[in-house]
Amino acid sequence: MKVLVATEKPFSKVAVDGIRKIVEAAGYEFAALEKYTSNDELLAAVADADALIVRSDKVTREVVDAAKNLKIVVRAGAGYDNLDLAACTERGIVAMNTPGQNANAVAELAIAFMLFMSRNHFNPGTGCELKGKTLGIQAFGNIGRRVSVLAKGFGMDVLVYAPTAPAQVIADYGVTVATTLEELFEKSDFLTLHIPANEKTKGLIGYDLVSRMPKGACLVNTARKEVINEEGLIKALKEREDLKYITDVPTANHAAMAEEFGKRVFGTPKKMGAETGEANVNAGLAAANQIVDFFTTGNTKFQVNKQ
Ligand code: 3PG
Repeated sequence: MKVLVATEKPFSKVAVDGIRKIVEAAGYEFAALEKYTSNDELLAAVADADALIVRSDKVTREVVDAAKNLKIVVRAGAGYDNLDLAACTERGIVAMNTPGQNANAVAELAIAFMLFMSRNHFNPGTGCELKGKTLGIQAFGNIGRRVSVLAKGFGMDVLVYAPTAPAQVIADYGVTVATTLEELFEKSDFLTLHIPANEKTKGLIGYDLVSRMPKGACLVNTARKEVINEEGLIKALKEREDLKYITDVPTANHAAMAEEFGKRVFGTPKKMGAETGEANVNAGLAAANQIVDFFTTGNTKFQVNKQ
């Protein structure tokens, strides 16, 4: 049994060593393909893999087809929009994620983004404090919940739009609920997105929502670039010189936007929400353990392509 870790953006060495240890202790063979630069390298590496661990690496139908022995693929992380689930399902390949394992890292980055934007990119100039501001959180999964806890530490009022969140969770976290997405945008001085990219959310955040935000508001995106309707966002930013946008997932028009909007827009060069040693270890080791558990006990708790 061969377990391949294929990561264009590698895990920390400690995480890789930990994954190797779990895999070898189970009696399986460990292999790693890191920092690969072409899809052909990935296609060659998966050819004899029985199990695959990836991060944001694209597991396309072509990759699935090339992985003749593949039985399980685990996305070490939360969002699994990089996996072709239909192709996996057709082949009977179990696809999983590792929910919650990197949530704190992403939540901390969302808070850091707010501080960065409210303090003029850490340059001289009068900024504003987070205390007393309303933070809107769109979706209340592991990351949204963690952000709410951190934001309360800053004295922010937390407003959540999450129609599917259990009432008990809302009560446990002591957050206020917005009944519509429009209300969330209208009331949030800072608004952080924690929605997955899927058919329902792609292009969801556009002109209509962004232009509803209060004066001086800042939109924070540590989710996916696909959830933004970039044309609409640009229109809103053009019309409203007070609005700001910061993203961990550079926009398609990033250079042009940076030139046009200056410090009102910022994007990290490469997605870094989960780039902490802790998150690498949490998600990487969880992925390895889930694979061993699947092969030894048939556990499919975190399967995302259940029929
Ligand atoms: C996730 O969905 O878990 C995050 O976006 C992290 O992605 P990464 O593993 O590519 O850093």
